[in-house]
Amino acid sequence: MTTKETLSITDNRTGKSYELPITDGTIKSLDLRKIKVNDTDFGMMTYDPAFMNTASCRSAITYIDGDAGILRYRGYDIAELAEKSSYIEVAYLIMNGELPTAKQLEEFTTSITLHTFVHENVKDFMEGFRYDAHPMGMLVSSVAALSTFYPEAKNVFDEKNRRLQMTRLIAKMPTIAAWSYRHSVGLRYIYPDNDLPYAANFLSMMKRMAERAYKANPVLTRALDVLFILHADHEQNCSTSAMRGVGSSQVDPYSAVAAASAALYGPLHGGANEAVLRMLHEIGDVKNVPAFINAVKDGSAGSRLMGFGHRVYKNYDPRAKVIKKLADQVFEVTGKNPLLDIALELERIALQDEYFVKRKLYPNVDFYSGLIYQAMGFPVDMFPVLFAIPRTVGWLAQWEEMLKDPDQKIARPRQIFTGPDLRSYVDVEKRG
Ligand code: ACO
Repeated sequence: MTTKETLSITDNRTGKSYELPITDGTIKSLDLRKIKVNDTDFGMMTYDPAFMNTASCRSAITYIDGDAGILRYRGYDIAELAEKSSYIEVAYLIMNGELPTAKQLEEFTTSITLHTFVHENVKDFMEGFRYDAHPMGMLVSSVAALSTFYPEAKNVFDEKNRRLQMTRLIAKMPTIAAWSYRHSVGLRYIYPDNDLPYAANFLSMMKRMAERAYKANPVLTRALDVLFILHADHEQNCSTSAMRGVGSSQVDPYSAVAAASAALYGPLHGGANEAVLRMLHEIGDVKNVPAFINAVKDGSAGSRLMGFGHRVYKNYDPRAKVIKKLADQVFEVTGKNPLLDIALELERIALQDEYFVKRKLYPNVDFYSGLIYQAMGFPVDMFPVLFAIPRTVGWLAQWEEMLKDPDQKIARPRQIFTGPDLRSYVDVEKRG
């Protein structure tokens, strides 16, 4: 039998049949609009809240097989990149599609390093935040404000200009992130040290006190760089979809990155590692783990098992595997995080429990990352910020891919209207 790459649909309302082309295992939603009961009918749509089964773009950046637990950037396995590469090299790969030559890497590193400083006015307005402002709130607002410093950034189709803004964003995110932290603890802001690589420079801006130059522990610097690699991109997640959706209006990339960062802030996304830590504190002791798991299952815990489950992974998150190993190296330097035992016990029990097994709920990237961040001395409020820094390159690469894609237009979903039909206005004194 010869097979055809088409889908036949019969509309039982009219008895008519339609043949729709299948490309890459998908049909075009717009093809469904041909299916009408009469000429005045708008045509068939799909109802897909939360985009559970809708491909919103074609992308060559990140590949995920959620059932097999595979994550690749531009074809390279995440575990291999985490072992052999650096964040800056991975950023180049994500932006350009290929690993850089030695010369390209040097040039890229230099251009990022030379853009780490921000205008002094940025410092001034950051100082205007309340003394206890959440660093993520400061980051979101300060990144948005950068658009006022680079008005030419709105020329999003000028490739040279666009690439300059992308470089600026990757370079300046750690500076703004570190300053948000310094502000929230009342410490003076530390300028970038251009002699230091990306992760080491961030640690210097976070931690330097009176010393002339900050020397981070190399194990911790490498651990942070690996965490940055693991968080660099993750295809069409909530914040990336926000970046693409907001960017589709052709707004400048600073405003779009601010929107993506805001999406990342939520507890179901980049805020989850913060939520994991709070949950582990609340559990307090290994002996309380079984009761907590039961409370999650019967809904009385008031929350899910944070750091577990994923829209795409129905297997162990490959990033969580790398992080678990990384945790051992970090804890050798910092001493073990006392919450680790609670986390390990939670994982052990959950992975055997029918509720979690049946729903294919495994630890995700956020389950162990918070423990490492905490052991490295980062406050819980900084966790989503530590996610936003490396994810910036993913957002930007996806945004650029969207701008260059002739299939893309301004994002504008449809709705099924469920409100009232036309009614006449009633004067206030006549309302019951
Ligand atoms: N704990 C307990 N039950 C869970 C959990 C969890 N962490 N996650 C999902 N479930 C249950 C749901 O209650 C649901 O059960 P039901 O079928 O009996 O109603 C079932 O598993 C399916 O859950 P959904 O909410 O439909 O799954 P969805 O794909 O929409 O959610 C999400 C994915 C948001 C990540 C979810 O698993 C969750 O809330 N996890 C905790 C928060 C978290 O760790 N977020 C980080 C994600 S990774 C990242 O953003 C970097």
